[in-house]
Amino acid sequence: MGKEKNPARVGAGVNEGFFSRLYDNFFSNEIVWPFTKLLIKGLHLFSYSFRAKLGLISPKPEYARCVFSGAFLGKSLGYKKISMIEFGVAGGRGLTALEKHAEVIGREMGIEIEVYGFDTGKGLPKTNDYRDLPYIWREGFYKMDVEKLKSRLRSAKLVIGDVGETVAKFFDDYNPAPVAAVMFDMDFYSSTVPALHMFEADDSRLLPRICTYFDDIGNSAFDYNYCFSDYTGERLAIREFNEKHDKRKISPDFGLLADKFRESWYSGIFYVHLFEHAKYNEGVFDKETDHSAELSL
Ligand SMILES: C[S@@+](CC[C@H](N)C(=O)[O-])C[C@H]1O[C@@H](n2cnc3c(N)ncnc32)[C@H](O)[C@@H]1O
Repeated sequence: MGKEKNPARVGAGVNEGFFSRLYDNFFSNEIVWPFTKLLIKGLHLFSYSFRAKLGLISPKPEYARCVFSGAFLGKSLGYKKISMIEFGVAGGRGLTALEKHAEVIGREMGIEIEVYGFDTGKGLPKTNDYRDLPYIWREGFYKMDVEKLKSRLRSAKLVIGDVGETVAKFFDDYNPAPVAAVMFDMDFYSSTVPALHMFEADDSRLLPRICTYFDDIGNSAFDYNYCFSDYTGERLAIREFNEKHDKRKISPDFGLLADKFRESWYSGIFYVHLFEHAKYNEGVFDKETDHSAELSL
């Protein structure tokens, strides 16, 4: 991409170099930044995309962040159309938020975004597998009113059925645009494992880095009795995926985790890395992100 203006950055509508210098020199202090964030969020300052990047969009700021990240990478790499997915839809609060974020951010950045939501339609399946944490969740929790939700959706498509069956046929049945962001919220280990098979698809079906959000990783002080561990639930499914694949890995976003003003949902953001994807090494930098001058004497 060289030093040209990145079209994704133009779409996001903010001079990032200027903003990050302001942040470094003035905003990034314990008193000013929380107040500034409140102002940006409450007064809807800057573009929707920029607020999504900073996690200043409600509801579901974690979804907005993933949409921003996926759209940014897609646009930077020259994709015209990408897909975003929610696994585990229930009543549709998450899917309707995802649809809205995708619509606005897609429009601002100039990239088309398809949205898909996977669910049984009947709530949680039956399980007695300790890896699904049945001590928290029960069969039939979070049942969907399919017709009501369909009437509320504007463009998102529902993929109804057990993910053990629907994921395997998804690319053939729907021919979606390449997948750029995925939200996981199915609670169970046994449901997350087949959903992760999506990341075994051909490169043409996937972006080289895919922003994902895992809701059941453990990100709130209220979850004191959930006891999320590396040996059950979504964390186990991720670990097994990583053990099985050499050149495709799912990893936390350590940049986000190192942020001075960390939000609880940051721990649920992971990226799928497809190291052998033809576009993995393609540059996404431009003069906004060229910091060479700062290092010269
Ligand atoms: C916690 S709810 C999702 C909440 C939703 N994401 C939201 O933000 O409101 C979990 C959902 O995962 C779905 N689910 C769990 N296992 C599944 C499976 N094997 N196949 C399809 N859907 C599944 C359930 O039907 C349930 O609706």
